[in-house]
Order: sequence, then C-alpha cells, then structure tokens
Amino acid sequence: MAYPYQIQSKEQYDTIYQKSIEDPEGFWAGVATHFQWRRPWERILDWNFEEPRIEWFKGAQLNITENCLDRHLEQLGDQPAIIWEPNDPEAPGHALSYRQLLDKVMQLCHVLQRNGVRKGDRVCIYMGMVPELAIATLACARIGAIHSIVFGGFSAHSIIDRLQDAQATFVITADGAYRGNKDIPLKSVMDEALEQCDFVRKVLVLRRTGITTTMTAGRDLYWEDEIEKVAADGNPFFPAELMDAEDPLFILYTSGSTGKPKGVVHTCGGYMVYAAYSFVNVFQYQPGEVYFCTADIGWITGHSYIVYGPLLAGATTLIFEGIPTWPDAGRFWDIVDKHKVNILYTAPTAIRSLMSFGTEPVEGHDLSSLRVLGSVGEPINEEAWQWFHEHIGKGRCPLVDTWWQTENGGILISNLAGVTPGIPTFATKPLPGIQPLLVDEKGEPALPVLQEDGKTIVSGNLCIRFPWPGMFRTTYGDHERFKQNYFATYPGLYFSGDGCYRDEEGNYRITGRVDDVLNVSGHRIGTAEVENAINSDPAVIESAIVGYPHDIKGQGIYAFVVCDPDHQPGDDARKAILHTVTHLIGAIAKPDKIQFVSGLPKTRSGKIMRRILRKIAEGALDSLGDTSTLLDPGVVEEIKKGKL
Ligand code: WTA
Repeated sequence: MAYPYQIQSKEQYDTIYQKSIEDPEGFWAGVATHFQWRRPWERILDWNFEEPRIEWFKGAQLNITENCLDRHLEQLGDQPAIIWEPNDPEAPGHALSYRQLLDKVMQLCHVLQRNGVRKGDRVCIYMGMVPELAIATLACARIGAIHSIVFGGFSAHSIIDRLQDAQATFVITADGAYRGNKDIPLKSVMDEALEQCDFVRKVLVLRRTGITTTMTAGRDLYWEDEIEKVAADGNPFFPAELMDAEDPLFILYTSGSTGKPKGVVHTCGGYMVYAAYSFVNVFQYQPGEVYFCTADIGWITGHSYIVYGPLLAGATTLIFEGIPTWPDAGRFWDIVDKHKVNILYTAPTAIRSLMSFGTEPVEGHDLSSLRVLGSVGEPINEEAWQWFHEHIGKGRCPLVDTWWQTENGGILISNLAGVTPGIPTFATKPLPGIQPLLVDEKGEPALPVLQEDGKTIVSGNLCIRFPWPGMFRTTYGDHERFKQNYFATYPGLYFSGDGCYRDEEGNYRITGRVDDVLNVSGHRIGTAEVENAINSDPAVIESAIVGYPHDIKGQGIYAFVVCDPDHQPGDDARKAILHTVTHLIGAIAKPDKIQFVSGLPKTRSGKIMRRILRKIAEGALDSLGDTSTLLDPGVVEEIKKGKL
C-alpha cells in the first residue's frame, strides 16, 4: 500500500465513508497522524456554523514545508519534486529533486528574512508558471508569511484591490511571463499598481523574459542578486517557523456575488491534511508517477494540486509555463509523451478547445503512460467527457470529475480513480468526511421527485453540513462577510452557491452556480464586478451582465449596456468598454457580447430582472415568463429584437 490512508476498493470507501460520518474526529485524527507535527493537538475539532468558527487540530504546531520537503529527503531526496516544462517547446526545461527544491526554498527564506519578512506578514506573489513561483510560495510558508498569489492575468487595478485588502508589505514578481506567443510585462503592471500602494516596502523581481523594467532604488531587488548574497553567506539551512495549526497559511482572492473579491483564508494544519488526503485518494497517486495539473498556481487548483497536495505526498509534479494551443493544439500531448505523464488533471474548457481541433493533433503522440484523467472547474458536458475518455485516455483511464471550490481547500465530491465508479457528467460521491445536503429555497432538505424514466432524483442547492479540515476559516479582514456570504442563507449549513441533483444511488451532479457568479473557462467571475467595471466607463449609465452557454468557455459573458444619451452606442463604445474591463479586472472578464439597450427590465422597486436577461441571452425568447410586473414591459421587446 502506497499511503496508509489510501482507499483501495469500493467496499473500503463505503466503510470508511460511514466511519467518517459517525466519528469525524476519530477519522481525521487517524489521517492526521501520518503527518509531521512538532507538537500534538489538544483538540481535534471545535466548531460552530452559527458564529461561525471552525478550528481543527487546535494547539498543534507544524510547518507545512517540513511535510512537503524535509520529511521526504531520506527516501525521496533525489527524486524529482518538480519537472518544469517551459512555454517554448524548443527551450530546455529542468527538474528539481526534493533536495534541490528544499535548498532553493531555504535560500529564498534567507532572502526574505534579510529583507525584513516576518511570520504573519502578507506577501503578494505575481508571477508566471515558473518553478520560482512554487519556490516563492513554499518559502513564504516556511518563514510563516501569509502568501497571497495573484493570477498573472489580472490587471493593475485587481492587484491594487488585493494588495490593499491584505495590506501586503512585500511583493514577489518577475520582469515578465511567457504565455503562448505573448510576453506579459508583469513588472510594469505591478509598478502601475504599486503607485497606489506605498505600504509595499520591497519588491523582489525574477528575471524571466529579459525585458527592460524600471527598478525603483531602495524598493526593488533582483531575485538573482539577492540569492547570490545569501549564497555567499554560506549557511544554507533555514529552520522552518513553528506555526499553530490555525495560523493562516494563505489568502486567495476569489469572486463572489458582491462587487469586491473576497480573501479566502486557509490555515496551516487542516489545509495540509485535506490537500494531501484528497490528492492521494482522488488521483490514486502511486509513488514514482508523474503528475501533471494544467491549472495556474494563481488559482486554488494550482495551490492544492500543483504545489501542496503533490509535494505533501512526495509526488513528482509537472509545472507547465505555456498554454494548450501554442505552438499548436498538440502541446499537452507532446508534454504527456515527453515526460511520460501518468496523471493528467485539466479543465473542461481546455478539453473543449482541444476537441475543436479534432484528433489529428493527438495522433503521433504516445499517450500510453496515462493512467488517470481528471477534470475540474466547471460542469463537464457529456461530449467533452467522452472525447477526453476515448481519445486521450483511449478508453482505459478512469476519469475523475472533481467538484470543489476555492473556499473548500480541496476536492469534496469526486469518484476515486479506478476505485469508485465514474459516471459521465457526475462528480459522483462525497469524499470521506464530507456531508453534502441538498436544500430547497427555504433551507429544508429537498425531497425526491419522480422523473419520466420512473427514477427519482433530489434536486436543490448544494450545502455541506459538517466541517472538514480543508475548509476556509474566514474572509480576510471581514468575518461578518464570511458569515453572511456562506452561513446565513441556510443557518447551520455552509452554502456553496451551486445547484445540484442527486440520483437514487447517491451520485451528485453539479448543475452550476445559482448565484450571480459566472464560470467562464473555469474562472469564477462575479457579475457585479464586471458591471462595476463597465459602469465606470464615462459613456455608460448602467449595465447588466449574465452568462449564456458558450461552446468552448462553458459560459460566455453577455453584457446589456445602457449608454448616456450624449454618447453614441457603437463600435467605439464597445471597444472602450472592452478596454475598461481589461484595465480594471483583466482580459478573462471581457464580455463576449455587448448589446446596447435603451433600458433594462426592472421591477417597480428598481431591481434588475436578471432572469429575463438570462433567458434572452440564452436565446429562450419564448419562455420569458411573466413580464407584467415590470416597470416598463416594452423594453423587453426591444431587447429581444436586438439580441446578438
Ligand atoms: C465550479 C475551482 C461542476 C462550481 C476548484 C464551483 C464545478 C466553482 C466543478 C468553484 C465540477 C468546480 N463540476 N462545477 N467538477 N468544479 N466547479 O473557486 O460552480 O475557482 O462553485 O474553484 O467552480 O470555482 P473555484
């Protein structure tokens, strides 16, 4: 048996799941003993969803990097921890063994310490997909600083929001990043943000693309120069800071239904146990295998399943700098073949995009090393599931459909590769310790409904009724928001914001968000955030954003925009809006369609009727339902006529 807590069979899953529900504390304590704690816990779990307060392994001390790195040295010191595949297939990549990775992390710890970073400080990391991103993340964790990684595609404005909210005093970035045929000037975007963030004391800059950057004296430092200085000091070892299990490990900003992104806070002990446990069980990782997750470390999937989960398990994790379609649509298959990847974890949007190129780019690549496939980020449609399974997995690799969220820390609902059955488009069953509950609008457990095929399903809003170690503990600096957003809709339950149904066998199928959050190419985008951005354009009076089905992205962004009478709606206004959104949020939030309208459908109390706009955007023009309660029903006809 590879890991003492690895589930081996369907029967064992059933037994363990049952135990984890009957005695959650005993169950998680059993898992937690397989990690290295510097001091044992006094209490396994203390919780209350009303306050809300969630504490796991209280009183225990640890450092997650000792569990990710030091602990493995004896047995896995020379095994690759990270394999790095650069953007350009012609450029040389490299691997870092566990020993080398620890050395690099410790060197960077010395750099951080010399530059004043202390336990509890917030460090913002804004980089491309280079090994140094993982090194920076781990160095923060080792020194006890709280990392806040910002995805390299976010704009200066988004960085400002995040820097200010976290009051980050130290920034780690790079001159630029390569992504496909693009060369992103990270440092200059950061410089723009820093103009408004004078509380940032130091900026560490990795040289990656070699573009000219402005270095501010006294504030900006080159990574390589600083490393050279500490290397000259000669003491390579850097002891890991002792952290309480409930000390924050990181903040990660994510979009919600209100305007501002919220800082999801994860803590050291519980997150560690859950990231490792879920990684080992869902993917059924076997020692020595090469594991490739195509996400960006700037999202939660990258945190938990590129960096922490795999390293905690002593796995070999592949970091890919580029994109699936450059230089051609065979790039992933090229990587799988070249590095003999065993486990491939990607997103439905990537699969759909690659599918559109047909099977030709797949041919000629040896994919026989693949053993497990995984999907994350949005509901996977049947067609994409089948294509992935048949053309990539050649019909022989189990495919795990993993449902979870930034707030969850790790996968909550998924089949376990080759151990519990996968069903196309179903995330299937909860992991041990996870207690899902589907509720109706009033918060009552949803009741079974008879379907045409004679079977019953239960359909409702997906909640979780008991804590798990990997769940977030607060939203940074605003505990009330944490309570209101997640625990107030249905008292006593964590509400995910997702709709879902369950079949007679207890398999869950996620149907998508039921709140005002869109899922575009697997990225969470708050409609209010995009509306705020559009409304800040001087030509715009107001706007409403809804999602509509998009072949590749899953959901596309449809904007209904009311222009100021002094401004002509048209191509120029459209361009200006796209520019504003890119500037304020980032290119990922650009509307796919912009329809100029003379007014928005509103109730008499002034509330925008998004339901109607959603139907129009979907093209369901004949099923708008009752529009008689609208302030101005005529506007609906106009909008229908102008639909894009
Ligand atoms: C959606 C990503 C269906 C869901 C890990 C959730 C999914 C949101 C799946 C979280 C899946 C994620 N099936 N929907 N397997 N995985 N989602 O925070 O709507 O970026 O609420 O975390 O993605 O997105 P987040």
